[in-house]
Amino acid sequence: MQRAWWKEAVVYQVYPRSFCDSDGDGMGDLGGIRAKLDYLEELGVDVIWLSPVYQSPGKDNGYDISDYRDILPEFGTLADWDALLSDVHARGMRLIMDLVVNHTSDQHPWFLESRKSKENPYRDYYIWRDGKGGEEPNNWESIFSGSVWQYDEPTGQYYMHLFTREQPDLNWENPKVRREIKDIARFWLDRGIDGFRIDTANLYAKQPGLPDAPVTKAGKYQDAFKLHSNLPANHEWLRELHDEVFAPAGCMTVGETSGVTPQDGRDYTDPKRRELNMIIQFGHMTIDVGKNKWEKAEYRPIALKKVLTAWQEGLNGIGWNCNYLSNHDQPRQVSRFGNDTRYRYESATMLATLIHTLQGTPFIYQGEELGMTNVRFDRFEDFQDVEIHNWIAAERQKPDFNPVAALAQINRIGRDNARTPMQWDDSENAGFTSGTPWLRVNPNYPKINAKEQLANPHSVFQYYKKLIQLRKQHNVFVYGTFQDLLPDDPAIYSYVRTLESDQLFVLLNLTGEDLRLDAKPPAGKILLSNYTGRPVWESGVLLPYEAQVILC
Ligand code: GLC
Repeated sequence: MQRAWWKEAVVYQVYPRSFCDSDGDGMGDLGGIRAKLDYLEELGVDVIWLSPVYQSPGKDNGYDISDYRDILPEFGTLADWDALLSDVHARGMRLIMDLVVNHTSDQHPWFLESRKSKENPYRDYYIWRDGKGGEEPNNWESIFSGSVWQYDEPTGQYYMHLFTREQPDLNWENPKVRREIKDIARFWLDRGIDGFRIDTANLYAKQPGLPDAPVTKAGKYQDAFKLHSNLPANHEWLRELHDEVFAPAGCMTVGETSGVTPQDGRDYTDPKRRELNMIIQFGHMTIDVGKNKWEKAEYRPIALKKVLTAWQEGLNGIGWNCNYLSNHDQPRQVSRFGNDTRYRYESATMLATLIHTLQGTPFIYQGEELGMTNVRFDRFEDFQDVEIHNWIAAERQKPDFNPVAALAQINRIGRDNARTPMQWDDSENAGFTSGTPWLRVNPNYPKINAKEQLANPHSVFQYYKKLIQLRKQHNVFVYGTFQDLLPDDPAIYSYVRTLESDQLFVLLNLTGEDLRLDAKPPAGKILLSNYTGRPVWESGVLLPYEAQVILC
């Protein structure tokens, strides 16, 4: 297998707005990130992925960009950003930026021009169509609820937005648009960054002719995902970016790709196809939801195993996985796949073991290394997320709208769970800000915070640190092959990673029950355990959320 620095790295995602506020305005900023680099160095991560810090009206917390070459003043200046990059590099770490180019903000100068007239030179930068009989051009539903089309008065046409209406989609078919995007990427690479996390990297190409989506549910707008994802042109355009920008810079790329199969994953990450290094796939993010993310389905551990094993086997020897359980779009993993009360330490560390011992690059989302949990808000006004507000607005139109049930859904799966401020210490507002935080702090911060965990040898933080060190000491964590040892077991995830004469056995109890292990692992050296090291090959029992990593 080809070695690469990004395969050996551990990535840490910073959501700047919620990380650390250095100037008391209630919003995290670049100064705050710089102040916490010691913390990240102590944890041992190699790459920092910065969610967007560009100029933006903030309708989608920076995923709606109005100037790709400047920093949002609340976060700081370009000079602050340069200082951050040089501090990161001075510590031997790397920095990757979010490249958000499926859409811009509706306040981006290109869009302000584009909407002026049908003849405007920027008209073709976006996707404009005439309506059909006084209705939208087609029945596609936006990922953020409602139609993907917005009527625009000045020219009497509609523009497309897969996300919220302040995020008009760029027209990637226009070579000028692709040239602009390549220039933006080069701008940041020239400034010294080490790669990109590429937002919605599989949604650029839209089905030619923009046909209606099949009617599969009640209501006017229909799921059109297949008509605007993973299309052949999307692969071509990524290859163009790869050949003209990413490969010459030798940078790392990880594309966010919802709704992909392992076959798609091979297509995106097989180096021979020259597209991306890795992708963020969503298979395991859909196992506890119904037809859409707001519908609850029962979480069954075997579903998690099946998805992850399919990706391990699917990309084996061809592409490369990105292993994650949380990010700024998902609820907190310990609340979702673990137990955030009685077994918070055990389940947080077991889940950590999972993402660090599968083949692929582990991605940690800020606060995950503290076992931060979902929050509970009792009023709709407490939520800030546009996805949540758009969904509620659409739900309120329905005759059977039930506010109590809706609130429960948001508290369970909503994105603000991940976005509450980092919990640094037990002082007011968790040490995140001296002002009023833009989103309320999770009230459990006096108990769950970095200061306490840095001082406590038996903390989730210390366990993450150990895992990261082990991954650096033993190449088998990175390059070992993967074999699922108990594919049919409903609750135990056990696999072996093999590299030459090294074998790494991983045993994970995905539940809060004691479980008997029928197939005994061989005796070896316990590299890591989230209980006090009783060898499972002797006891034959896995305790609630027990994790054991054995080197033979
Ligand atoms: C991606 C981002 C998400 C954002 C969306 C639109 O999914 O991760 O936060 O809302 O793209 O840019």
